[in-house]
Amino acid sequence: MSQKATTTKRDGFSSRFGIIAAAAGSAVGLGNIWKFPYIVGENGGSAFIFIYLISILAIGVPVLLAEFIIGRRGQANAVRSFKKIAPNSKWSAIGWMGIVAAFMILGFYTVIAGYTIHYFILTITNSFAGMNSADISQTFNTFATGTTLPIIYTIIFIFLTLVVLFGGVKDGIEKYSKILMPGLVGIILLLVIRAVTLPGASAGIEFLFKPDFSALSMDAVLDALGHAFFSLSVGMGTMLTYGSYISKKENLTSTALSIAAADTLIALLAGLAIFPAVFAFGIDPTSGPGLVFITLPNVFLQMSGGTFFGALFFFLLFIAALTSVVSIFEVIIAYITEELNVGRHKAMALITLAAIVISSFCSLSQTPNSSLIFNGHTLFDWMDLLSANVLLPIGGLLIMLFVAFIMKPSDLEDELQQGAKSIKGTMAYLTVTKFVAPVAIAIVFLTGIQALFN
Ligand code: PFF
Repeated sequence: MSQKATTTKRDGFSSRFGIIAAAAGSAVGLGNIWKFPYIVGENGGSAFIFIYLISILAIGVPVLLAEFIIGRRGQANAVRSFKKIAPNSKWSAIGWMGIVAAFMILGFYTVIAGYTIHYFILTITNSFAGMNSADISQTFNTFATGTTLPIIYTIIFIFLTLVVLFGGVKDGIEKYSKILMPGLVGIILLLVIRAVTLPGASAGIEFLFKPDFSALSMDAVLDALGHAFFSLSVGMGTMLTYGSYISKKENLTSTALSIAAADTLIALLAGLAIFPAVFAFGIDPTSGPGLVFITLPNVFLQMSGGTFFGALFFFLLFIAALTSVVSIFEVIIAYITEELNVGRHKAMALITLAAIVISSFCSLSQTPNSSLIFNGHTLFDWMDLLSANVLLPIGGLLIMLFVAFIMKPSDLEDELQQGAKSIKGTMAYLTVTKFVAPVAIAIVFLTGIQALFN
């Protein structure tokens, strides 16, 4: 064990609001805004929301809680926490997988995050004025497949995350999250009010909420399970690392539930900010980058006040991505500072360098005739598929098994007891989910790896 880690007091969150803002900041990201609303609309509206809520409660919250328990018990990074709780075992491999997943997600996520800055500038400078939808689509394709501009914006984005990370956990991540997350909620509410008051908005509200049980396929259920996982940032030690910064006074169960509630609510609000507007202008919705960078600029161009609301939207997307990327960085920073005895700022510099290299390759894999295409998928897609479909589910499954069957029950109860009046409810909940969650995750994993070969 390194000298530094044993003698210096660990940094940590200082308030309950700070914990929730930072962890919800990690959970609320690009996934909430461009994926969730669309899969809801496509898969049967509120019928799908119902399945998603069950997925959140059956696998999302249990794994989130498990990560908090391991982190706070271990009082260390994702690798060492396992070593401390189960010495001389191989469980710390989960932490290692988390570090690998962190680099992979950084690789593609920061590229898209960079796009949000470019689109914020394009919108605020009214650059789409006079364009038709083919021009807007062309603008996006030319930009995303370029060799220089997307990389420059990715680097700018990474440097902005460093500003947040610079002060550490309490004076960096917590301080900024406490400002950025309420800001995000304020912006999303403004966008919802604008969208639902447009003439013809009701078709979008219907697309989102009208229950259609016939659209609920088995694929939809798997989508719900898989998305619950990615959306709560679980399975790779992010919430474990944040858990290690939570004070012993806090009730972990209610904290995990608040974060899941905030994440789900914001995803629903994102849907209400987007689809009523898309339908009001008679545009066909898509998902992913197409929705955000092609469909929405079209919408903002036609909307009165579109420059203002468009700029607000891209700023919202930027904040959502920023607080998520911060949490991914923190997993690796915690590991490097505690295991390699390197100072925080030096660790940040090393990770930044690696992240820039990986994300540049991801971005370049999207250029025409790129040699970074393997088996029909770009490097960018591989980073996404391997992390979301392989590493996160395996990590989540093992984390759940670790807490349910490996950790001493007395340690587990002790962690749950802190700050709680009674743990009867939580214990009953865990008794069920410790079997349900691993089975559900295994199914998601087995179907997810099929997608790799399609
Ligand atoms: N939860 C984020 C989203 O929904 O966009 C993505 C994410 C962030 C996944 C952090 C994993 C992670 F560690």
